[in-house]
Amino acid sequence: MASTRKSQPLPGAPKTAAAQAVQPNLHQQSHETQKYGEIVKLPNGLSEDVCKKSVELLNQCLADTITLRDMYKKHHWQVVGPTFNQLHLMYDQHFEAQVLLVDILAERIQLLGGIALAMAGDIAETTRIPRPPRGREPAAVQIRRLAEAHEMIIIGAREAAKKVDEIGDDGSNDVFVSNVLRTNELQVWFLTEHLVAASPVEA
Ligand SMILES: [Fe+2]
Repeated sequence: MASTRKSQPLPGAPKTAAAQAVQPNLHQQSHETQKYGEIVKLPNGLSEDVCKKSVELLNQCLADTITLRDMYKKHHWQVVGPTFNQLHLMYDQHFEAQVLLVDILAERIQLLGGIALAMAGDIAETTRIPRPPRGREPAAVQIRRLAEAHEMIIIGAREAAKKVDEIGDDGSNDVFVSNVLRTNELQVWFLTEHLVAASPVEA
């Protein structure tokens, strides 16, 4: 909502009437127009209660997906060893796929009339994925840590898919299965094959 309060001149700003007329109002404030957890009822054929339950499940998945997304970038930057280039590139490919999932989940929450979590502090308070250390870890530990995070998301997505199916939210069921589950299952496969001690030159 636009403030009716007149803008205060910035220090050193010109004070003529003409200059005042084009001075941006940089002091605007407002209360929140929708509180987190509230649902705006939209004409989507779903009850407010159904939307609220789906939004809660989607926000948990969103917080975990944002955490996994950022863990991929951390490991993309910090990876070392003879497989540096391969892992460096694969981590970024997986990161990009997780970026897409984040947007799909967040926009699903918004179109259900909810509020999507977004900021780092809120994600840290909500995610179920353990916080990795700030420092560097060996590639094998990076992969193990990523695979564990994937499995948490996969288990959560399967449970959430069943719950939203039971309450009739087919669109959210599709997001949990077609987007979240399928993407994470594929990335687990790509990751864990790197933990097999197979020689490229000896049988
Ligand atoms: Fe990069």
